[in-house]
Amino acid sequence: MPINPFPDSTAKQILRIRDAGDIGDFSGYLGGAKLKYFGMPSAEMLDVLEWRKHISSFTAVEIDPDICSDIETTILYNHLDQNHKLICGDVCDVLVNTRLDKYELFNLDFYGGFINKRKDGSASNPLAIEHLVKRQADLKGSFILIMTFNLRDNDKVEYEDYIKQLHKVLKGYRAIGIDDNIDFHLSKGKPSNVYKLKICVPTKVYVAGLPHYDFSFRRVYHYKTFVHFVLEMRYVEGEALGQIPRPDILIDILNKPVLNIEGKHVRERTPNIPQIMAETHASTSFPSNLRDQSKTDSKSVGGKLTK
Ligand SMILES: C[S@@+](CC[C@H](N)C(=O)[O-])C[C@H]1O[C@@H](n2cnc3c(N)ncnc32)[C@H](O)[C@@H]1O
Repeated sequence: MPINPFPDSTAKQILRIRDAGDIGDFSGYLGGAKLKYFGMPSAEMLDVLEWRKHISSFTAVEIDPDICSDIETTILYNHLDQNHKLICGDVCDVLVNTRLDKYELFNLDFYGGFINKRKDGSASNPLAIEHLVKRQADLKGSFILIMTFNLRDNDKVEYEDYIKQLHKVLKGYRAIGIDDNIDFHLSKGKPSNVYKLKICVPTKVYVAGLPHYDFSFRRVYHYKTFVHFVLEMRYVEGEALGQIPRPDILIDILNKPVLNIEGKHVRERTPNIPQIMAETHASTSFPSNLRDQSKTDSKSVGGKLTK
């Protein structure tokens, strides 16, 4: 049997089991339907195997040709050979350059950081994720999006700019505790990017999904040097949700606690995040760079989190 080229860990095992709960809930939302999986399962395909009862078919993407062969072996060994596709290539290239089918479960399990700039200065992951969301919207598909990123410090300034912009936008909204909350995310945490990514990744996905997706930030975990997100995107017919991000959803993102995995324990990270209390749900005016980013070119996505 092939062995993963990286060591499995208790944290990853815990995450697969906990994610199975969220995946089961999402399947329930779809009337108990089994889900089509798209992701990076690696040699042992431990995520696909753990979630097997919820999965109808899968597309595995793998950049390393040796691991691709291992995946083929694992597929045969576990009798997973019905309705599968194996793509040997870079998942970001696949998401940007191919006309993907509709999937209901994405597991983008990266080694690298979120921005992860390429040599030409473009950012591969944010652009790829934006393409994924737009493509699923074209196909009118609801999906659960699970993503893992390494916490890298060299993108720090871009995250801070984005958070400061959000802060400015929310100042026009009647709520208590915004300054304390933002200050917490900018100043606390070890590694310091934990809280910055906690805001930037889901906000980016939420904004990319407008006006078609009812967005739900299910959970965010931190373990070792990784941050792991579980987001739900429920497709809504028409453009009923509008192009303007809703302050209450942004506040939900800001208020969301980070769950720490240490050993076998999953606990809310302390100190607790200062909570924002909304006084009204009236919408506020958002600058265009926090709205639809589908027209954004790859260079500017790489340079900043916004246009
Ligand atoms: C962390 S492992 C996946 C673990 C698996 N999801 C699980 O739960 O056990 C990530 C896998 O994705 C592959 N990978 C990393 N970056 C990639 C990329 N840009 N495109 C395609 N595959 C990639 C790695 O070679 C590795 O096999």
